[in-house]
Amino acid sequence: MEPSRRVKLINLSGIRKMFELVGEDSINLGLGEPDFDTPYHIIEAAKKALDEGFTHYTVNKGIIELRDAISTKLGKENRITANPESIIVTVGASEALHLALQALINEGDEVLIPDPGFVSYDASVKLAGGVSIPVRLKEEDGFRMTPERVLEKITPRTRAIILNSPSNPTGSVMKKKDVKVMAEIADDLGLAIISDEIYEKIIYDEKHYSPARFSENVITINGFSKSYAMTGFRIGYVTSTPNLIEEMLKVHQYVTACASSISQKAALAALEGPQDSINIMVNEFRRRRDLILRRLRSMGISCVKPQGAFYIFPKIKYPENFVADALKKGVVLVPGSACGIYGQDHVRLSYATSYEKIEEAMDRLENIYS
Ligand SMILES: Cc1ncc(COP(=O)(O)O)c(C=O)c1O
Repeated sequence: MEPSRRVKLINLSGIRKMFELVGEDSINLGLGEPDFDTPYHIIEAAKKALDEGFTHYTVNKGIIELRDAISTKLGKENRITANPESIIVTVGASEALHLALQALINEGDEVLIPDPGFVSYDASVKLAGGVSIPVRLKEEDGFRMTPERVLEKITPRTRAIILNSPSNPTGSVMKKKDVKVMAEIADDLGLAIISDEIYEKIIYDEKHYSPARFSENVITINGFSKSYAMTGFRIGYVTSTPNLIEEMLKVHQYVTACASSISQKAALAALEGPQDSINIMVNEFRRRRDLILRRLRSMGISCVKPQGAFYIFPKIKYPENFVADALKKGVVLVPGSACGIYGQDHVRLSYATSYEKIEEAMDRLENIYS
C-alpha cells in the first residue's frame, strides 16, 4: 500500500531512535521527561477515579471542574483571561499543537519555527499542509528567539510563529520585552503566535511571560507532563479566542473525542493540590544543571547556561562522532541535528537523571574529549 505524500514528508524522531540503543549499563542523557515520581496525591486521585467508575467519555472539551481550575491558573499565574469555554483539555501538549496547526494552517502557509527546536514542530506543520521556516537561534543570543530573527523570516505567506520558552533543546528563556514585541508583531501583521509553555515552571533565574498576556492573536499550549512529572497520563490543554477554539474542537472531537477521564481527574488534583513538589524538582534540576555546566566547561566545551527546562545544548566538534563514542562508553546523547538543521554542530544532554549518574556520565565523556 502506498502511504500518503503528507506522511512521507516526515520522519520518525531521531530522539526515539537513540532510545533503542540504550544498554543495561548505559546512562541515558537523552530523556525528555522528569525522572521524578508523579506526586502521590495525583496518583491517588487517579485511583479514586477508577474506584468510583469515572471511566467513561467526558464532554469533548474536558470536565468543567478541570477547565475552571485551568482558567483560574491562567488568570493568576499567566495573566491570561481564559473563559473555561475557551479551553480544550487535550491528550498532552502534543495534541494541542496538532489542533492549533490543523485549525490555523492552509496549504502552503508558512510557519516560523525555532531551530534548534522541539522535534514535533516541523513534523506537525508539514502534517497540516504548511511549510516550516526555521528561525535560526544563535549561541551568541543565548539561543533566544528574538524579534529581529523573526522579522528577517516573515514573508506575505507567513501565517504563524511558534514560540517555546523555556526551550527544548537549548534551555533558553525569552525576555519580557521580546515576548511583548513578538505580540506586537503578531498584532501588526495579523499573524498568530503558538506559544508552547510546557516548561514554564521548570525555570531557574528568569521569569516566564506568556504572550497571550499582551495579544489576542495567541494560541497558548501547556500541559502537566513536565511540571508534575505526568508524561504517561497524556494530559495537556490549549486556549485561544472562542472562534479558533470552536475550530480546534472539531479536530479534537474527531481525533480523540476527549482526553482520558482518569487523567483529567489526576490533572485536577495536580492543580488543586500542594505545589511543593515543583520547587523540590526545580531545585534538584538547578543543582544538576550547575554540575553538568561546570563539568562540560572544564572539558573546554562551549555551552550556553540553560535558564529553564532540563536540557543543555553544547557545541561539539564532530558531534556525530562524539555521540557514537559516547554510546560506546555507555552514555546516550541526542545529536543536535535531531533538533533542526541549525542544531547540527551541537548535542543535546538531558539532566533528567540522578546527580550521581550525571557525575558518572561526565567522567565517561571526559575520557573521550580529552
Ligand atoms: C517543547 C515541548 N512541547 C511539547 C511537548 C509534548 O509534551 P506532552 O507530553 O504534553 O505531549 C514536549 C515533550 O517533550 C516538549 O519538549
